[in-house]
Amino acid sequence: MIEVTGLSVRFGGVTPLDDMNVSFAEGTCGLIGPNGAGKTTFFNVLSGFVRPVAGTVRAFDQDLLGMAHFRRARWGLRRTFQTEQAIEQLSVFDNVAMVHEHSKVGAASRRKDVLDAISFVGLDLDPQLRVGTLGAGERRLVEVARAVVGRPRVVLLDEPAAGLPDQETERMGEVIRQIPEHTGALTILVDHDMGLVSSCCEKTAVLDFGKLIASGPTAEVLRDERVIRAYLGTESVL
Ligand SMILES: Nc1ncnc2c1ncn2[C@@H]1O[C@H](COP(=O)(O)OP(=O)(O)O)[C@@H](O)[C@H]1O
Ligand SMILES: [Mg+2]
Repeated sequence: MIEVTGLSVRFGGVTPLDDMNVSFAEGTCGLIGPNGAGKTTFFNVLSGFVRPVAGTVRAFDQDLLGMAHFRRARWGLRRTFQTEQAIEQLSVFDNVAMVHEHSKVGAASRRKDVLDAISFVGLDLDPQLRVGTLGAGERRLVEVARAVVGRPRVVLLDEPAAGLPDQETERMGEVIRQIPEHTGALTILVDHDMGLVSSCCEKTAVLDFGKLIASGPTAEVLRDERVIRAYLGTESVL
């Protein structure tokens, strides 16, 4: 369980998060909202790139914001980024292994964890292949493998299917749906593809201009008047 209380972030005159109160239960939860709503900023707060001006975040009864950011990764907080982060010059194996190299487990089990993560995301290829030789959908799956390797407790996915064709989005959905059961991690999915969010997330929270405007069962949230209004005039995603 992640419990967010009174979370606010300010950058000069901009308030990307404005007194956000929400909780995310086990399983996969959606986090949606128009562009600029504050979704990535929220992930940046959780992972320690951005320091909020107010608020608390408790994750499995630990004070996440009180933890140094490098400890958060070791504790089990993982994320993907909206812009691609897989390193093209490195192999698939090394891309995943570099995330896992500071864990306390021994080399043999680290190697097994890396291969497990690659196979979990359904990448049926030689792990020594360079990431630069892969297609966009496969590179995105490498990033998901980096987020699930080892023993993650919290997995944050920032638009993992952005720009992918329908078939690849479907493949991504199949992987995301298995993350909680396979890893035990609480997963938060940010995406603009409402089909993907609906198929992966029992519950969804909605941000608009840094404020939480709805939270609850995904189907109900997507029917909510305020949510529909927030999306009107931005993108016809609903
Ligand atoms: N480092 C930053 N400095 C100033 N403003 C920022 C910074 N990062 C994000 N913002 C602003 O914060 C708001 C929320 O951005 P973001 O969290 O990226 O939204 P989303 O991921 O929902 O599209 C936007 O208005 C954006 O321009
Ligand atoms: Mg974003």
